[in-house]
Formats: sequence, C-alpha cells, structure tokens
Amino acid sequence: MCGIVGYIGNKEASPILVDGLKKLEYRGYDSAGIAVLNGDFLIYKQPGKVINLEESIDERVKGLSMGIAHTRWATHGEPTEQNAHPHKSNNGEIVIVHNGIIENYKFLKDELIKHGYTFIGQTDTEVLVNYIQFVQEKNHLNIEDALKKTLQGINGAYALAVMDKKEPNKMVVTRKGSPLAIGVTETNEEFYVASDAIPIVEHTQSLVYLNDDEVVVLERGKKLKITDIYGVQKPYRVKNIDLNLNKVSKGKYEHYMLKEIFEQPETIKNTLYSHLNTENTNINFENLDVLKDKLIKANRIIIVSCGTSWHAGIVGEYIIEELARIPVEVEYASEFRYRNPIITEGDIVMAISQSGETADTLAALRYSKSKGATTFCICNVFGSSMARECDFTAYTYAGSEVGVASTKAFTAQVAVVSLLAIQLGVERNTISQEKASALVEEIKTLPLEVNKIFSTNEHIKSIAKNYTQTTSFLFLGRGINFPIALEGALKLKEISYIHAEGYPAAEMKHGPIAMIEESLPTVIVATNNEYYDKLVSNAQEIKARKGPILAVINEDDSDMIHVADFVFKVPRVSDMLQPIVSVIPLQLFSYHVAVFKGCNVDQPRNLAKSVTVE
Ligand code: AGP
Repeated sequence: MCGIVGYIGNKEASPILVDGLKKLEYRGYDSAGIAVLNGDFLIYKQPGKVINLEESIDERVKGLSMGIAHTRWATHGEPTEQNAHPHKSNNGEIVIVHNGIIENYKFLKDELIKHGYTFIGQTDTEVLVNYIQFVQEKNHLNIEDALKKTLQGINGAYALAVMDKKEPNKMVVTRKGSPLAIGVTETNEEFYVASDAIPIVEHTQSLVYLNDDEVVVLERGKKLKITDIYGVQKPYRVKNIDLNLNKVSKGKYEHYMLKEIFEQPETIKNTLYSHLNTENTNINFENLDVLKDKLIKANRIIIVSCGTSWHAGIVGEYIIEELARIPVEVEYASEFRYRNPIITEGDIVMAISQSGETADTLAALRYSKSKGATTFCICNVFGSSMARECDFTAYTYAGSEVGVASTKAFTAQVAVVSLLAIQLGVERNTISQEKASALVEEIKTLPLEVNKIFSTNEHIKSIAKNYTQTTSFLFLGRGINFPIALEGALKLKEISYIHAEGYPAAEMKHGPIAMIEESLPTVIVATNNEYYDKLVSNAQEIKARKGPILAVINEDDSDMIHVADFVFKVPRVSDMLQPIVSVIPLQLFSYHVAVFKGCNVDQPRNLAKSVTVE
C-alpha cells in the first residue's frame, strides 16, 4: 500500500532514494518524504506526488550517503505534510518509514502520552517511532535491540526502515506482513532496501527477500546480520533477480496501462510456454509432481483472491469444473478468512494474486494452511510472500505490472488456470489426451487472436468518446463470460470513476431490468457459442426499453450486430478460451473513457497496486 526505500553506502543517497520512490509510486502516491543523516537528520516531506518532494530537496543533501524514504497511501490521517513519512521521535534521534498498519497503536499512544510524549500528526507510524524511543530509553538499548523489543509488543503489519543518529553508520530494517527486499553487493559497502525489487535491480541484481519477523542490521563493510525479533540468528539466501528494467518503462505508450494491454500477446505466450514441455505440445508445470496426487484426489478446490484476481478465480471455477470435474468454490479472501470456513485436509486452497502480497489473500492462505489445507498459488511476482509460503506456485510470466488496473496479469492468470484445468482433466481421466492436446494447440493460438483485436483500438476509442458524461453502466455476461462482465465493470470503475455493475445476463429480469432507460448503457459480452441466442434475447429486452447496448461479439456475428448500438469484434474461439479475447476490448474501452475524462489512468485516486493492509 505504501512504498519504502533505503540506502546506506558510499554514493549520494538522495537521488537513489527519490528515483526509488518514483519506481514505487504505483504502491501509493498521496505524499512522500526522505530523511538523510548528517550528524542530525535532514527531513524533506511533501503532500502529493514524488516530483513535489524532489523539487523541495536542497543542496544540503550533497554527499550524504545514508537515508530512508517513503511514498504513502494513507491509512491513518489525511495525506498532509505532517502525516507524511519519515517520522521522527520526540527526542529527534530516531527516524522511521513504514508500510503497513499498527493495529494496537491507540493503546501505545495513550501510554506514551502518559509519559509526556507529544504528536504532530495522526499516524500509527509516528506512535511506533516514539515507542521505539520509549523502549530504548527505558532499557538502555542500541537501536536494533530497541526495535526488536518494541516489535514484541506490536500487532499489525509492517515493513520498516529505521535510523538512529546515535549510530550513524547503521540502518535497521524489518518486515511482517508487508514485503521488503534488500539489494546486496559483493563488498558489503552498499545496501539497497525497497518494498520490491524494481528500485533495486538497476543497482544490484543480488537480492535478499526478508521473511516475517526478520530484523536486519545494515552496516557499511559488514555482512548482513539477520535475526528474529528475539535475537535468534536467521539464515538467508541471496537470489539473482534478472528483472530487465527497460520492461519497466512506458516506452512509446502514454500510460503503463496501455503498454500492458498491448503486451498481452507476448505475456500470454510467455506464460503459456513456461508451463509447456520443450516441444510445446504438452502441459508441464515444473515440480507439480509434489502436489499431483493431492490435486488429483482433491475433494474440493477453494480459490481465494481479491478484485481482478477474484474474477480470474471465477473463470477458473467454470473451466476446472468443466474439464476436471473437481468442485470449485471461489471466495473473496477478505470474507473467507473471517467467516470460520470449513476446511478439510482434502481441500486445495488456491490463491490467485498478481502481487503475491495482498493482505487479505495472504491471511486466507495462512488460515487455510493452519487448518491443514494444501496451498497453491498463481502469482506474478517471484519471491513474493505467497510464492514463498504456498506448497506450490504456478507463476504467471506477465512481467512487472505497474498500472494499478490489472490487465496483462489477469489474462496470464486465466491462461495458467486454463492449463491447470486441462492437466487435471487428463490426470483424472475426465478428458482424453487427444482433447487436451487439441485444447493446448488452440490455447497456443491465443496470442495471435489477441493481437488481431488491437486493429480495432481506434474504433473502440471512437466509441469511448461518447461515454465520458455517463454516470452508470451495466455489464452482462453468461457462463464463462460472466466473470468477464464483472472484470469489464471493475476496469471502468477503477480508472474512470464511473459506476458500473457486472451481472449474469439471466439475472436481469430479477431486478436490474427496472433500471433500464436511455441514460443507462449496457455492455453485453456475447461471444458465447452456447448461450448466444439467450444473450440476443436479453439484448432485445433491453432494446425494447430504450436501453443503449454495446456488445462484445464474434467477428462473424449475424444477430447481435443488428441489435447493439455499438459492437466490439473479437475472433471466434471455443467457449473455454473466450475470457482472454473477450476482455481485451473492455480493457481498451475503460482505458479510453478514463483518458477522455482526464483521469490518472496509471494511478487512480484512492487506489494502490498492492493492497498490503486489511
Ligand atoms: C485490479 O485492477 C485492481 N487493481 C485490484 O482489484 C487487484 O486485482 C486486487 O487488489 C488484487 O490484487 P492482487 O492480484 O495483487 O492480489
């Protein structure tokens, strides 16, 4: 939800910190700040985007080679300069940046106030830095021991970087529930800290991903020292992350979202081929053997996820039940984790997550694991918390998705879940090897089919222009395209701020049809072969009540094309593969409406790319 960056080494810290924040702005962008150490702390903080902070930094930072920085998505307290991080302790000796939520901060704040502490802002983080001071002074501890002792009494999620001016050559970092990575060099002269790999890999590709409750002391010239919050030494592994940074740039595109929409032929291909054998004829999930028996004998698959990934889960439900005949339940992770669900050892709990860090999904996974379920993850970020904690991870290979609105990760998730359904069907003898091979051959054509749709981009843009003043949309779909209607509605909502609701088309007559009028356009996903006639009937019912209709149709459509006011054409593919082609026009439509409305497409208001708080 927020992004933190730290640097301690032999280079000037300020440009490294600011550039790192710019690469993390997709995580939160309502205020930003840095702190560097020059005997005393120099702290710069600004509301708004990182560029505002950058313009406020003066020459005094020259030559200073240790600092921490933060870009914020507000949880406690408005996005003001007072609430921006870094926060400083009352005695001015400790500064901190924090990503997460301290759940018991009110109790701690009351205790500190009794001891005469005062507060400038309303954040939980300001309470935390002062509690560290309180513990340090009470127990006469150095900064790492004061932090460890403090964390023993903290409830919540955090990724922290802390500096104490009494120990000017040391930075202490830790995490619990929020991600944190450390970039290391062979000489140990420099250390880079960030919420994810993107700000680090241009400096070093040797990374250490921290685990929960690990506390790390970073000192120039010394190897990492990692312990838990009780001081027990912890081993660690250095991973070489080959993240090609030129992929993390907009290139010729105006927005990351548009670039990522157009990347989908490549990202779908990369994802598919990464899970096929070398001849690209059969499915081959590496290391799936460890889970194969449990998957084959599973009495149920419970998919837990949020947002767009939840929509991918519903596509998975249709495909896995159709091909593998395993009962599938799709749950909002946030609901599942609290409703005391019934979980048995025969259950497979599958998390679908682009970031691998979504707090609700991670918590649902951990809950399931504690109840004996086998856990499976479909994820787009190597080394993410979910990937490291699940019994098995099938990665999507969509590359870094920077646009807050998920597009290429979604189609990659659907590609993985389709392959998994086929593989399970073969292993459970619910489909023949011939049918599986035929489906694999058709799936391999999807990148080409998706690419064809881009020739209609200007047409979609011309339609989108008509809807910048519209205040509400209905999105309808049936069968495997029902989740595509939900996804189209979410895309439009989250980047254009226009209300939109996805519904099963057959449900219209149970209420929503009462809303139909000229001011309420309906988008119908009508590419199904199986339900086509029923969808045309639904369209007629809407038309009869003067409701405008936009329809996603097959390029050879012969009926809906005469009912809808506007159409988005896609290549005809078999029903099981439609979600990946049907969603593309809806991604483009929402993008163009949002751009015409002047919205911040890559960083929509109130949102963040990775929701690492509840
Ligand atoms: C999708 O466009 C949204 N950004 C959001 O719903 C997202 O899908 C959700 O927060 C889940 O994120 P995850 O896939 O990283 O777990």
